[in-house]
Amino acid sequence: MKTAVRAAMISFRADPFLLPVAECLHYDSDALIIMEDGKISALGPAANLLPDLAADVPLQHFPHGVLLPGFIDCHVHYAQTEMMAAFGAQLIDWLNDYTFVTEQGFAEGEHAREVARLFLQEQLRNGVTTACVFGTVHPHSVDVLFEEAARYGLRLIAGKVCMDRHAPAALLDSAQAAYDDSLALIRRWHGRGRAEYALTPRFAPSCSPAQLDALAALARDYPDVLIQSHVAENLDELAWVQRLFPHCRDYTDVYDRHGLLRPRAVFGHGIHLSDAEIAAFADSGAALAHCPTSNQFLGSGSLDLRRLKQGTRQVALGLGTDVGAGTSFSMLHTMQAAYMAAQSHGNALTAVQAWYLATRGAATALGIADKVGSLAPGMEADLLVLDWHSTPLITFRMRYARDVQDALFIQMMLGDDRAIAATYVAGRLVYQRAADSGN
Ligand code: GUN
Ligand code: ZN
Repeated sequence: MKTAVRAAMISFRADPFLLPVAECLHYDSDALIIMEDGKISALGPAANLLPDLAADVPLQHFPHGVLLPGFIDCHVHYAQTEMMAAFGAQLIDWLNDYTFVTEQGFAEGEHAREVARLFLQEQLRNGVTTACVFGTVHPHSVDVLFEEAARYGLRLIAGKVCMDRHAPAALLDSAQAAYDDSLALIRRWHGRGRAEYALTPRFAPSCSPAQLDALAALARDYPDVLIQSHVAENLDELAWVQRLFPHCRDYTDVYDRHGLLRPRAVFGHGIHLSDAEIAAFADSGAALAHCPTSNQFLGSGSLDLRRLKQGTRQVALGLGTDVGAGTSFSMLHTMQAAYMAAQSHGNALTAVQAWYLATRGAATALGIADKVGSLAPGMEADLLVLDWHSTPLITFRMRYARDVQDALFIQMMLGDDRAIAATYVAGRLVYQRAADSGN
């Protein structure tokens, strides 16, 4: 069925870390997007397209809105939704005291399904239409998430966490079980509808060398399957990895030697990488997910993003909420935190760069930029409608916005879930903000 939506429109045509803004930013003050069979069939100035739009095509108009590609969250743990805002710990203690307790609850299938439902609703309320998601060690944690995502027609990447040491026995698998369960999940889900599978070794300290090798064998057999993990998040973690893998040059080398550093591999954090490790990321095509609210929350440090984005050999990068160490499902909050992290290194992340990282940049990092992450004919019709005037303060502040870049910066600094007026997935309206929650 054909549907149409009308509002201002912003999308990104190219990488603002490489090219001038004028070549990257696509803005139309009054656009029409026509959607059919889950894809964008036409897009352009409303004045050009409206005269030819058949009268029976349902048209939704957002006069104070701007259409944007749906956000992409490159790193998030759905099972940790129930333990967001857990007080007072840094990474290793936080894992032991909170995370590993919470994740044991996912042995129970109905609990996993209830959390999966709430998690996806929360993402849609925040305009997130694709995410790269960690399950728990239990294979059914991934089944229920993919099943619930399919109800919305969501594009989703997810994987069963693999961990065979340094956690409670109830959360451990083995090298063989990680291989067998991951293979079964790949066969069941990868490429089914909009689902894609990610091999998910939790992080080097929780995976034996044998387990990393087993997952690398699957990565070789299935080169289009994704890989997700963590790297260089916390200084105590770095020292631990050095003790566990004394023969490896550094943290990144652990993954590299075990065949897990490759395109479509996405690692959370990377805030304590050396120059040599950054070069290894750039050369391999592996990506990083910048998770600034999580880094602040756990006192891990802050990413100096400029080190990843120098010259022509750059590291593929997206933004991650990293819920539950991350403190918000909002990609606006995440952009705000990314701006502040950059500031702490004497660098200013521009609005166009931040919004690119939350959309097309993320899609590029995940290898799905031909499908989602920008608005153009032929792309899958995943989009959000941002309300330029979602609170009284923002309405007032927007009067003084000088241009579109200014407006985007105001939104990412002052906006939250109220700024998301509507979310479309595969051309279908799946979320619309209640009339009284905005301005
Ligand atoms: N490192 C290993 N597991 C985790 C996790 O669940 N969250 C974060 N932030 N870091 C991790
Ligand atoms: Zn994480």
